[in-house]
Amino acid sequence: MASLADAGLKFTTLPHPAPASDETREAVLANPGFGTNFTDHMVVIEWTEGQGWHNATMGPREPIALDPAAAVLHYAQEIFEGLKAYKQADGSIALFRPKANAARFNRSAERLAMPTLPENLFVEAVERLVQIDRAWIPDAEGASLYLRPFMIATEAFLGVRPAKSYKFIVIASPAGNYFKSGAPAVSIWVSEYTRAAPGGTGAAKCGGNYAASLVPQGEAIDRGHDQVVFLDAAEHKWIEELGGMNLYFAFEDGTLLTPALTGTILAGITRDSLLTLAREEGLNVVEGRYSLEQWREDAASGKLVETFACGTAAVVTPVGKVSGRDVEFTIGSGGPGQLTQKLKNRLVAIQRGEAEDTHGWVHKI
Ligand code: COI
Repeated sequence: MASLADAGLKFTTLPHPAPASDETREAVLANPGFGTNFTDHMVVIEWTEGQGWHNATMGPREPIALDPAAAVLHYAQEIFEGLKAYKQADGSIALFRPKANAARFNRSAERLAMPTLPENLFVEAVERLVQIDRAWIPDAEGASLYLRPFMIATEAFLGVRPAKSYKFIVIASPAGNYFKSGAPAVSIWVSEYTRAAPGGTGAAKCGGNYAASLVPQGEAIDRGHDQVVFLDAAEHKWIEELGGMNLYFAFEDGTLLTPALTGTILAGITRDSLLTLAREEGLNVVEGRYSLEQWREDAASGKLVETFACGTAAVVTPVGKVSGRDVEFTIGSGGPGQLTQKLKNRLVAIQRGEAEDTHGWVHKI
């Protein structure tokens, strides 16, 4: 749906009347948390039927005006991405695989009947925001600048059909650890709810999937767990993913398994990067099916030695305990495992420019 006019779109920079003071910014950077603090600027690009992408601006981060009938507010025509900018060992700044985010964004757009965005425009928008707000990138180990590109349907129309106007926006948020508990390994709750059904939107990164995960995630928190794990919709048997991250299972025989992308699971970019890194470590990497029952049995017998969650926000996070209505088990010692730590270290070293990037994943700005 992208028009020819999209090529060479010029950005207009709007003045910022009151950027944060150095003290305010330093206070945020000293303790960034996740998702609560934001940088000074945002990118907005508009799309209208017949005109394509136009009116690209870099301006102050501020509330956006929406008609109360805007389609996003009624039918949830919304998609988003998550990626990070990292300070490199040499002081420069880099994004990690932004083109993979751009490609996934367009796959989500197609599923949600939204216009696609030229990949280079997606990447340019993110690069520009990181450039202008580069003082907001934390230095601390494990911290980074989280970028949130998203698109909303802005047309004021209550009929159910794809909207005829959209806004693509990028905001940025200094980020530390995603999990508040800061525990060395997280504990997860097996949900009775399902996240995605075959033929549904499970593979798209759309807000609706996350809205539907809030009740199950709330149940997990109420029961003292960090995250919820979803089983498949058809048999309620096979492990799919957590509320906002993918899962990996490591076995004593050197096999590393992650649920296959069957259309109901989000194709995580961290998940994909780890497939490659794990193969390079000599592991027998398998994308397949794994049942809750087998997970419990293998954890009990010791055949399964580690489980970890992964995602842009979560990076690589060990899973220590699993509970559900009829199950409760601990994985290994219940703490972080060696393989999890090794894969995390390799990934983070590449992201931070401390290890050679042999895959062309690091995108310097
Ligand atoms: C991410 O890891 O970027 C996510 O989208 C997960 C969550 C914060 C929604």
